[in-house]
Amino acid sequence: MQSEYDVEAIRRDFPIFGRPLEHGGRLVYLDSGASAQKPRVVIDAERDCYESWYANAYRGVYQFGARVSEELERTRKAVQELIGAAEPEEVVFTSGTTMSINLVAQAWGRKFLHAGHEILVTEMEHHANLVPWQRLAHETGATLRFIPLTSDWRLDLDRLDDVLTDRTRIVAIAEMSNVLGTIHPVKELARRAHEVGAVISVDAAQTVPHHVVDVVRSEIDFLAFSGHKLYGPSGVGVLYGRRELLEGMDPFLCGGHMIERVYRDHATWADIPAKFEAGTLPIVQAIALRSAIEYVRGIGFSRIAAHERRLLEHTHRRLAEIPGLVIYGPAVEHKGSIVSFTVEKVAAEDLAVLLDLKGVFVRHGHHCTMPLHDLLGVPATVRASFGLYNTLEDVDALVEGIHYARRKLRLE
Ligand code: ALA
Repeated sequence: MQSEYDVEAIRRDFPIFGRPLEHGGRLVYLDSGASAQKPRVVIDAERDCYESWYANAYRGVYQFGARVSEELERTRKAVQELIGAAEPEEVVFTSGTTMSINLVAQAWGRKFLHAGHEILVTEMEHHANLVPWQRLAHETGATLRFIPLTSDWRLDLDRLDDVLTDRTRIVAIAEMSNVLGTIHPVKELARRAHEVGAVISVDAAQTVPHHVVDVVRSEIDFLAFSGHKLYGPSGVGVLYGRRELLEGMDPFLCGGHMIERVYRDHATWADIPAKFEAGTLPIVQAIALRSAIEYVRGIGFSRIAAHERRLLEHTHRRLAEIPGLVIYGPAVEHKGSIVSFTVEKVAAEDLAVLLDLKGVFVRHGHHCTMPLHDLLGVPATVRASFGLYNTLEDVDALVEGIHYARRKLRLE
């Protein structure tokens, strides 16, 4: 039997929660969707590498060089297991989700897309999963199309055939909206994409920290995520690609390590994944990412998901008490642990500033989703996003903070 979810013990694993805020009070961190806090094991892993055996990777045969290369390959294996990939070589280290998606757009898209082809996205994509495809469309003459949405901010799969056709070459979609929290059925989308001969590229930045992602079972062709949202270091991310797709692509960045042989006027490429890892990798960050993966898997995704579900339900319930508060997105059963909202007569930025005075850290603005905010009809929202360390008291502090803001603005 699994032990009870001891969130206070989990919080003690994160040094930042042990530090008082500048003006006193408890840190209520509700911005894990932007970047998650780091457990001590991740911080220690980085320090240990720098202090004890740091060197560049894949270059030196001396002890430290060999150790670093070996640790990186162990991390690659940990990522393979995390996302259910068939082989470690299908895991490419990048600087983050943005770089991973740009890599697919440039290295796969520019080679295989032409005028007459279509790229299928949604209007709720983060700019990182929209602008690279817009640019690719401009460069190749391909057309960008959008999956219709339902009135409750889900994909309208009944109308998918209107836009998913034999002209579609790629479906590029975030598994979970970073604003609405909507979770999309990527397995179903992958099946439908493959039926018309298209590939599917999944931005999993918002889901990898929260639930099990399995690229083989879900038949995903490309998958991108960032280390820093998974309680790991910033500066490192992952691109998963099916072997035959990665092998068929040309490199994105050129330089050291990605070559097989360089002549005066041309070069041949290394095998995957090195072909896509030009230059010095974010070595220490990638190595410490393994500690983050082990930490999260040690707690267990089913327990994390159940805990975050409780937080989400509590948040929806409590926010409903506040007059003039509108939550954007589908019902709780169709979403992950992100809640974006507006409060009538309170500007999003003012609310974020007033919440900060109470130690409640949220993100405000368009959250890198301007087309979605155009659809929502508001320029900005306030977003609370949860991690495995949040508590029901954090939610209550958010609610109290909103009442405080409304009082300050003489709305109650
Ligand atoms: N993509 C991150 C967010 O949504 C930065 O906040």
